[in-house]
Amino acid sequence: MTDQTAASPRVLVTGGAGYIGSHVLHALTDAGIPAVTIDNLSTGRREAIPAAVPLVEGDMGSAELLDWVMRDHRVDAVMHFAGSIVVPESVVKPLDYYRNNTANSLTLLGACLRAGIDKVVFSSTAAVYGAPESVPIREDAPTVPINPYGASKLMTEQMLRDAGAAHGLRSVILRYFNVAGADPAGRTGQATPVATHLIKVACQALLGRRPPLAIFGTDYDTPDGTCIRDYIHVSDLADAHVLALLHLRRGGESLLLNCGYGRGASVREVVRTLEEVSGEQVPATFADRRPGDPPQLVAGADRIREQLGWVPKHDRLDGIVRSALSWERSLEQSVGQAGALGGSASRS
Ligand code: UFG
Repeated sequence: MTDQTAASPRVLVTGGAGYIGSHVLHALTDAGIPAVTIDNLSTGRREAIPAAVPLVEGDMGSAELLDWVMRDHRVDAVMHFAGSIVVPESVVKPLDYYRNNTANSLTLLGACLRAGIDKVVFSSTAAVYGAPESVPIREDAPTVPINPYGASKLMTEQMLRDAGAAHGLRSVILRYFNVAGADPAGRTGQATPVATHLIKVACQALLGRRPPLAIFGTDYDTPDGTCIRDYIHVSDLADAHVLALLHLRRGGESLLLNCGYGRGASVREVVRTLEEVSGEQVPATFADRRPGDPPQLVAGADRIREQLGWVPKHDRLDGIVRSALSWERSLEQSVGQAGALGGSASRS
C-alpha cells in the first residue's frame, strides 16, 4: 500500500507538544493535512502529539536541525508556535524571551529561505498592542508593547514583513487574545503545571488543587470593576490556523489578523460562569491589581472572518469554561491513577 502522507509535503509545526500547537496538530490531522513537529519538550508533552505526526525532539535554535527536518520531511510551510509565553517571566528574564522568541524566529526564517519555503503562519499576541486606548482593538491600532514578551513577538512580526518584501515570503500573523478551553474530544489541553491564566487557575482552585483564586483588582473602570478580556476557545483558534495555511497554499497574500470573538467578559463573569457550569462555588479572594494588566482587551474581530471565512464553533463562554474544567478533571484522574499505580504523574 502506498503511504500517501509520505508523498505529500508536510507543514512543519514548531512547538507541537505545547498547548496551542498540539490542538493545531489535531486539527491538521483531522483535516488530513500531513505535519511534522519540532519540540524540545521543555514545557510540552509528548502524549499531546497525534500518533500520525512525527516528533523531532530538539532545539529550535539549531539551524542544522531545521535544515535537516525541512529537507527530510519535504516541508512546504511552517507554523511557528515554539517560544516562551509567560508575561511576568518576560519582565524578569527578558533576554530569554528575545532568544527563545525573536532570535529563534530569525534562525527559523533563515532556514525557510534556504529551503525555499515561502509560507509561514506565526503565533503573535494581543500583547503587541500594550495598553490600548480603546476597544475593540483593530489590527491597525498602534503597537506599543509594555513587556518584553510583547516586544519579542512584535520584532518577529517585523522580520516577517521585511522578509516578505525582500524575499517573497508570505505570512499569516495571528494575534491571539485570551486563549482558553480544551479539545472537546479530550485529546489535549493546557497541561502547564504552574498555570497563570485565569480560566485554568480558577478551575484548579475549584478542584482544590491550589489556593483560592486571587481576583486581581476590583476597582478598574469597567462595569463590575474587574478586567475584561476576549476569551477564545483553543479549538476555534486551531481552525483559524488550518484556514490560514490553506490560504497561503492557495497562493494568498500575507495577512495580519486578530484572533478573538470581539466580545469581552470580566473576571467576575468568568468566575460566575464556572460556578454555573460546575454547580459549585469557586474559592476566591480579592487582591490588588496585577502590574501591567490593561483594563480591557477586546479584539476587533471582523477581518479574520472576512479574509479567512472563519466561523467560530465554540464561542460561548460557558462552553469554553466547561471544556477547561473537564480537561482539568481528566488531568486530576490521570495523576490520581498514576499515583495509585505507584507510577509517575505523566500521561501516556
Ligand atoms: N486574573 C486574575 N487572577 C488570576 C489570573 C488572572 O484575576 O489568578 C485576571 C488578570 O488580572 C486579567 C485576567 O484575569 O485581568 C486575564 O489574565 P490572564 O493571565 O489569564 O491573561 P492576560 O490577559 O494577562 O494575558 C493574555 C495572554 C498573554 C497575552 C496577553 C495580552 O495570556 O499571552 O493576554 O495582554 F500576552
